[in-house]
Amino acid sequence: MAPRKIIIDTDPGQDDAVAILLALASPDEVDVLGITAVAGNVPLDLTSKNAFIICELAGKVDVPVYAGCDRPLGRPLVTAEHVHGKTGLDGPSLPDPTKQLTPGHGVDFIIDTLRSEAPGTVTLCPLGPLTNIATAFQKAPDIVDKVQQVVLMGGAYFEVGNITPTAEFNIYVDPQAADIVFKSGIDIVVMPLDVTHKALVTQSRNDAFRALGTPTGIAVAQMTDFFERFDKEKYGSAGAPLHDPCVTAYLIKPDLFTGRRVNVEIETQSELTLGMTVADWWGVTDRPKNALFIGDLDDDGFFALLTERLARL
Ligand code: RIB
Ligand code: CA
Repeated sequence: MAPRKIIIDTDPGQDDAVAILLALASPDEVDVLGITAVAGNVPLDLTSKNAFIICELAGKVDVPVYAGCDRPLGRPLVTAEHVHGKTGLDGPSLPDPTKQLTPGHGVDFIIDTLRSEAPGTVTLCPLGPLTNIATAFQKAPDIVDKVQQVVLMGGAYFEVGNITPTAEFNIYVDPQAADIVFKSGIDIVVMPLDVTHKALVTQSRNDAFRALGTPTGIAVAQMTDFFERFDKEKYGSAGAPLHDPCVTAYLIKPDLFTGRRVNVEIETQSELTLGMTVADWWGVTDRPKNALFIGDLDDDGFFALLTERLARL
């Protein structure tokens, strides 16, 4: 089977970095047409630079990396240096990228790619706030029907919020953008905190990354070491949740994941619950079932896949 053509939209972020590495290590399953950076965990100048740093760590310098939107659609940017550190990639000391950013705006790359590739053959993989995706849909409504699928990390239901009591960070940063994407009618697969909080980098899993002994394996161990301290302190968990790699792992081995097709709508009005993903898990409304909401994964299988693929880089 031909590899799936994907665009990764991202705000690296250590977990974004691992998701990008997993995709770049899996050319038989995914063909990364390009990477678009968005403001999120840290400002755009850093997320763009970090995306490049990761491509160079993987030795994939031919992947185009574009800078996208530097702020959410309708509200000030909220960042997460408290989780990811000042650079967004704290942990390892990685060299600055040698290449410059690919000229052009990330939103235009998304539009041009969807218009030039065969309809229904490109999957969008947002790993951060949905600003670039929503802006592309607003600027070029004709591309919406050309998208094969959106597989995104964001939201939470039973797990509740991580940036407010009710909202997950990616959705909270740009709820208007999320509302546009969830109402687009596109086939959406959601990796919420409900599943990503079950993908924990325990010490033995971190040791397995380090034991690869490669620059990539050691860097991933150092990245996950760094950003796990926040979650371990907050949740008392056994390790950092690897949120974003759930997206790329789903593309490679979907059977690792289980979920339910339900209606998901975004709170965009109330300051109290802004950015909440309201998932109709028990089907108490007749709203359209617009999303496959993932609730569980085979975590041992997930980390076995991830470690085996990272060993290739
Ligand atoms: O809430 C977790 C999400 O927010 C992840 O994508 C992480 O990288 C941050 O963007
Ligand atoms: Ca992210």
